[in-house]
Amino acid sequence: MKIFKSLFKKKIRTVFLEGKQLDFPVEPGSTILESALRNGINFPHNCTVGTCGSCKCRLLEGKISAHSEFGYTLSSQEVSSGYILACQSTPRQEKTIISVELDETTPSNLSSFTGRIIENKLLTHDIAKVTIKLSQPLKFIAGQYANIKAQSLARERNYSFASAPEDAGVSDVIFYIRKVDGGGFTERLFSGNMQNEILDLTGPHGNFHLRDSVSPMLCIAGGSGLAPIFSILKDAINNNVNRPCALLVGARTQKDLYELDVIKEISDKWNGDFLFLPVLSHEPKESTWDGARGLVTEFILDAFPNIETENAEAYMCGPPGMIDAGIATLTENGVQLSSIHYDKFTDQSHSAKMS
Ligand code: FES
Repeated sequence: MKIFKSLFKKKIRTVFLEGKQLDFPVEPGSTILESALRNGINFPHNCTVGTCGSCKCRLLEGKISAHSEFGYTLSSQEVSSGYILACQSTPRQEKTIISVELDETTPSNLSSFTGRIIENKLLTHDIAKVTIKLSQPLKFIAGQYANIKAQSLARERNYSFASAPEDAGVSDVIFYIRKVDGGGFTERLFSGNMQNEILDLTGPHGNFHLRDSVSPMLCIAGGSGLAPIFSILKDAINNNVNRPCALLVGARTQKDLYELDVIKEISDKWNGDFLFLPVLSHEPKESTWDGARGLVTEFILDAFPNIETENAEAYMCGPPGMIDAGIATLTENGVQLSSIHYDKFTDQSHSAKMS
């Protein structure tokens, strides 16, 4: 009987990380993410339920069982190129090889702290600039985010830092927060009822950051997606990054464009060519606007009239539709999937990033 049982005992699988000389065992039924974290590997992740895309990695060898559809979170180009979500994948073969960019944040950077809102300024009808004074200076990488929870509410929300990081940490951090109809946190915020309320925060989280390169950068932001892009661009200026950059911002109307003075300042200080292209999708026909009209992703190629797109790197932040359309256009025009970095902001029905 013992022999019979051992014949059917499920084998432990091993996952190898390409180019990193790292491997770890995966117990039967466990996901790649669970096993990586259990083995002390700083595997990027956040939601752990397949909605945020933080644990995206590329399957190079082996087969996996998927616990949920990847198609909601990953683009069709990513799925067909072998990208998977580690938190939703269990290896089916003894040897699995994946390629992943490990989280650059060290575990010691991740901490829990409190903060309170010291400034809440309405920038548009649905975007607020919120400054939170933290109980301790926070060190983060430009492009990252924090989980924020009002102590009186059950659910936390994820918001990206719009401030640039500082060596000694940042105490007063700026966020751009978009109003979500029916969202407990933002309904209260926009009614002005959260001034000085104590908030619980954890962070920094996320693996969206500027890669070390001299390639031209294409930044695309929609809604409150300007927050991490601002953080990245301001930090790049502070670090004397010198590369061409185009910033495309999608908004519905002129009234929905915000912080144009900040964009002007970034443009003036940028080392190298800088192009700013706002694109309006719902500006009234009879208005005085003589700029670009349509979806921001329809103007991607206008941003690079003289640059080979194969060499470009893209950084996108905004709603899922914008990101998916951006990935499709970029890959159709020769930008490598590995050069496309994004932070997808979803609404509360998907429990992922909202800022
Ligand atoms: S951690 Fe896997 S999708 Fe969020």
